[in-house]
Amino acid sequence: MAKASGHYVFDAFGTLFDVHSAAREHADAIGPAWTRLSEIWRAKQLEYTWIHAGMDRHIPFRDVTRQGLLYALAVCGLDASIAPRLLETYQRLQAYPEVPEVLHHLKSNGAKLAILSNGDMDMLDDIVKNAGLEGLFDALISVRVAGTFKPVPRVYALATEVFGVKPGDITFLSSNRWDIAGGKAFGFKAIWVNRTGAPDEYPDLAADQIVSSLAPLAL
Ligand code: LAC
Repeated sequence: MAKASGHYVFDAFGTLFDVHSAAREHADAIGPAWTRLSEIWRAKQLEYTWIHAGMDRHIPFRDVTRQGLLYALAVCGLDASIAPRLLETYQRLQAYPEVPEVLHHLKSNGAKLAILSNGDMDMLDDIVKNAGLEGLFDALISVRVAGTFKPVPRVYALATEVFGVKPGDITFLSSNRWDIAGGKAFGFKAIWVNRTGAPDEYPDLAADQIVSSLAPLAL
């Protein structure tokens, strides 16, 4: 589909790595509420990033992740004693199945690849290493350098600075529709990876392409 050369910048959580794989791995210990727990955890984690960005009060992604989990456990009436195990697993989330092949394909065709994520640098390092994706990325970019979270424009600007290119030279990929809106507002070309078949949003900031997984990028 897309031409394989060029600059590809990927969101991490939900796009390359399955945020629900942590709760799934501990589903037996959590019980049947694990899917609800995981959904609330993710929703709260993201809410906390937006609120902190809006307040211009940055905190590490690790902290919003822990706070979101503790809130989700409380809502689901679950014991907080499982939190350390879930957070440890979050540091080695599973990559979606098509991810290694797609990245290898793009890389072997001369593309430059980066991750641009809300995640702290050590989280990104660990997750990439655990998924066996080391060496495929030209850059792992954490929002920490910008001191705020997506969708603040100076976060997306980190990718143009790292690659020394204009926003329109970057193809940004995210499963998070609001993140695609942020990338488009900044000037990226954007591919929405609509993994859940969600209805489209942000009509004034439309994606250039919509795919249901990253697999079409290897064609
Ligand atoms: C990230 C979140 C938005 O990786 O998924 O930046």
